[in-house]
Amino acid sequence: MDSSAAASALRPVQIAGTGSYLPEKVLSNADLEKIVETSDDWITTRTGIKERRIAAEDQSTSHLAAEAVKKALAQAGVEAADVELIIVATITPDTLTPATACYVQKQLGCDRAVAFDVSAACSGFLYALELARTSVGAGAFQNAVIVGAEKLSAYINWEDRNTCVLFGDGAGAAVITPATADSGRVLSSQLGTDGNQAELLSIPGGGSACPITVDNASERLATLAMQGREVFKHAVNAMKRASIEAIETAGLQSSDIKLLIPHQANLRIIDAIVERLEIDKEDVFINLNRYGNTSAAAVAIALDEANRDGRMQRGDKILLVAFGAGLTWASAAIEW
Ligand code: ACO
Repeated sequence: MDSSAAASALRPVQIAGTGSYLPEKVLSNADLEKIVETSDDWITTRTGIKERRIAAEDQSTSHLAAEAVKKALAQAGVEAADVELIIVATITPDTLTPATACYVQKQLGCDRAVAFDVSAACSGFLYALELARTSVGAGAFQNAVIVGAEKLSAYINWEDRNTCVLFGDGAGAAVITPATADSGRVLSSQLGTDGNQAELLSIPGGGSACPITVDNASERLATLAMQGREVFKHAVNAMKRASIEAIETAGLQSSDIKLLIPHQANLRIIDAIVERLEIDKEDVFINLNRYGNTSAAAVAIALDEANRDGRMQRGDKILLVAFGAGLTWASAAIEW
């Protein structure tokens, strides 16, 4: 899906504030060596990940999300009571229904807000951005909150070294409001899906296709299953394509991009994209070494950290790009 055709009919929107929350508990590669047959060296050279955060037992995805939203609202100067739309992107919802966004609404007292979830895996935050961009842009809402939040530790098979070393918990949020004369704006956005590749990466059990029963409970079907090598190839191609499309639709060139904020799954995937896009490595935001892959939260957390670290100045052109289960991919070019 290409944002260019509809873009001119919409009022532009800005990212008015960002926030993130990472749970306190750190799980290092050395800790994982004690759980499965792996090594710090393997994890570091194959992925770039050194440690990840794990939510407490009594913290669910909505709690992580609410903490991130509080910070984003404070930065944007928007009161919880004035939020009209909350979109939570997650594949690890508190419950299958109601949506995690409903719990976030309740925890923050955003009583006027319409609240729902999107399920687009690691691309989810950018799917939420596009939904907010078009609905705020069309005038349906004034103040929207988008969140990427995951408690992936609840959906990991901690005996499967192929997956358990990769993922972590966390949340990131952004407040989307109409752009003003002296604010930045979202310039373009691209979304894509290939359901033919759905089996490459999924949580096969726990849904209506395969409910968890007493008979299959020991098979751990409600945990992430992934064909890593295949996903890797698709990730590089799709993120490269989506990046180029977002840049071109915004009327920019790669050399205009001051900061690339890619999905934080694997440093080798990021290196491959950066090489093909001809963006300098210093202009790429990386935090996967500290948090692992937090799926829908990854781009959102990175955006907030880049913002608070002063990596983006007013007027800078920023590129966000993600890829995940579905398969899904998404990108957005932003003027900060
Ligand atoms: N420690 C030690 N050895 C391991 C581990 C581990 N944790 N995991 C796998 N291995 C072994 C494998 O068993 C295999 O051994 P073998 O050759 O004897 O069979 C060997 O290491 C190599 O395995 P590969 O799968 O080929 O390793 P690869 O280099 O592809 O790296 C990885 C695996 C890191 C998963 C990579 O493929 C990857 O990052 N894929 C993409 C993941 C991604 O981007 N997901 C996107 C979104 S996630 C979401 O949507 C929720």
